[in-house]
Amino acid sequence: MTTFRHFYVKSHAKTSPDINLKDLPGSSGRLDVVARCINASFWLSHDIRRDVVFHTIFHGEPSPPVYIRMEGDRLRKVSPDERNIAIFIKKALERMGEEEIESTPGIFVSRKSFEELLRENRDKTLYLMDEEGEDIENVKITGEPFFFLGDHIDLEEEEKEMLYRHGAKAISIGEKSYLSSHCIAIINWWLDRKGVG
Ligand SMILES: C[S@@+](CC[C@H](N)C(=O)[O-])C[C@H]1O[C@@H](n2cnc3c(N)ncnc32)[C@H](O)[C@@H]1O
Repeated sequence: MTTFRHFYVKSHAKTSPDINLKDLPGSSGRLDVVARCINASFWLSHDIRRDVVFHTIFHGEPSPPVYIRMEGDRLRKVSPDERNIAIFIKKALERMGEEEIESTPGIFVSRKSFEELLRENRDKTLYLMDEEGEDIENVKITGEPFFFLGDHIDLEEEEKEMLYRHGAKAISIGEKSYLSSHCIAIINWWLDRKGVG
């Protein structure tokens, strides 16, 4: 049976589909950061990681929260460049309705709060990615791991508290503060080395 790896990145990207594809870092609220995190979650050279599920909640204006989930075993036609990933996010925002829908193969969109996301994923082993957490060298990654990261801004204290209340453990990959996408690439590499999943 496949063990899935889950990543969540909080995003401050805007929640309307009028995304300027030529200005992902600016007017779209750092959509470039999410796109790079998606790239780091899924892409290998000439292949895609089918055992990864990527989650994000957009908190930008005009109508947050928007929850987007991408499932590696169902993704089709998305390519690893930021612009192409942004096109699929734009389609998700355009097609979003009252209920969760699969906007394009493997991409699901709905309205969901962080608390609801945590409640739905009680069965996973939650890890908060935090520079000050326990060194990953000393942590045995178990169960179906779910890693939580900030984007260019850290998770808020309230969100960290919520994670702890749901049993999360804070883990660190070092004292330096790395880009979220680099953290994801490092975690994927680490789990590959450890034979997890
Ligand atoms: C670019 S960093 C956040 C930047 C910075 N802390 C701030 O608020 O300006 C993005 C996320 O990557 C994760 N992260 C960065 N460096 C890390 C490290 N050394 N160990 C574990 N997680 C890390 C954290 O989840 C962080 O919220």
